[in-house]
Amino acid sequence: MSSSIILGIESSCDDTSAAVIRDSKILSNIAANQEIHNEYGGVVPELASRAHQQNIIPVVEKAFLKANIQQNEICAIGFTRGPGLLGSLLVGTSFAKSLAMSLDIPLIEVNHLQAHILAHFIDDANPAPPSFPFLCLTVSGGHTMIVLVKDYFDMEIIGKTIDDAAGEAFDKIGKIFDLDYPAGPIVDRLAKEGNPNAFQFNKPKMEGYDYSFSGIKTSVLYFIQKEVRKNPDFIKDNLNDLCASVQKSIIEILMDKLEKAAKELKINDIAIAGGVSANSGLRKAMEDNRERLGWNIFIPKFEYTTDNAAMIAMVAKLKYERGEFTDIRTTATAKYDL
Ligand code: KG4
Ligand code: ZN
Repeated sequence: MSSSIILGIESSCDDTSAAVIRDSKILSNIAANQEIHNEYGGVVPELASRAHQQNIIPVVEKAFLKANIQQNEICAIGFTRGPGLLGSLLVGTSFAKSLAMSLDIPLIEVNHLQAHILAHFIDDANPAPPSFPFLCLTVSGGHTMIVLVKDYFDMEIIGKTIDDAAGEAFDKIGKIFDLDYPAGPIVDRLAKEGNPNAFQFNKPKMEGYDYSFSGIKTSVLYFIQKEVRKNPDFIKDNLNDLCASVQKSIIEILMDKLEKAAKELKINDIAIAGGVSANSGLRKAMEDNRERLGWNIFIPKFEYTTDNAAMIAMVAKLKYERGEFTDIRTTATAKYDL
């Protein structure tokens, strides 16, 4: 197979990103984050799509420049078709369609969730990619699920959250602590200085491999309200311990089910993906299970964990080799099953 150079575009939420891939090697992976949402404590869809419109052209130009590639050298364009915020997805989708049309090259739709998982196949994501079948704990701001990955495009969700996603739990609990959005990375940083056993929070009792994170959020909220009545500075005085304890609880919830699934399905190749897979505590828990349970673990490089176009380009490359192209009349879709 001759070498393929593909442009990937990601705009499903609040990061505008473009990447150029040659075969499975990423030549550039550029992202513009949208700070505008910080002051609102969450992503405001209308503002997100407006910011994507401002960012998309400079981000794509930077991706070409960094890759040292001319537009006419690419042989296809991959874009996130869904799931995500419709207004945000439309910006990337429309841009990808018009560029593909003007360059007269194939357009390739990508499922954002598949992309988080298949990021493991980028050349430098891991020392070696996982082998099929493997389990992938996919944890982001919008999704939390255990996926049985039988092949590149044959995936089955065996467990998922029935309410909040794990990233959402980090962000909403962080908001209770008055931290900026997204709070996940801040909780992670502060947790390093805290005692994870300082406070105990309720854990859900869920059947099978499903998750629930709304209980821990409520448990933290009531606990904080009670303590703040006694000491108005309670959060400030205990912030590191609170973050460490919350992080520990969320990771235990995530790992309990993952461990159960690995044991029952007798699968030893275990991966994590999505924004929350950047969490240092979760990475450490995976390392511990490598030692304790002999798992082969797959933890993507940081730049391929949170939303990025490198993972989109990777999936586009796999589909390009299969000749799976998308009709130019396609539209973005907020819901898109695995
Ligand atoms: O995959 P992603 O970038 O976007 C979605 O598809 O949702 O994930 C974003 C989520 C946010 O909730 C953010 O707080 C969380 O990932 N996150 C983290 C960390 N880095 C990002 N959560 C915990 N610890 C981190 N280090
Ligand atoms: Zn994502």
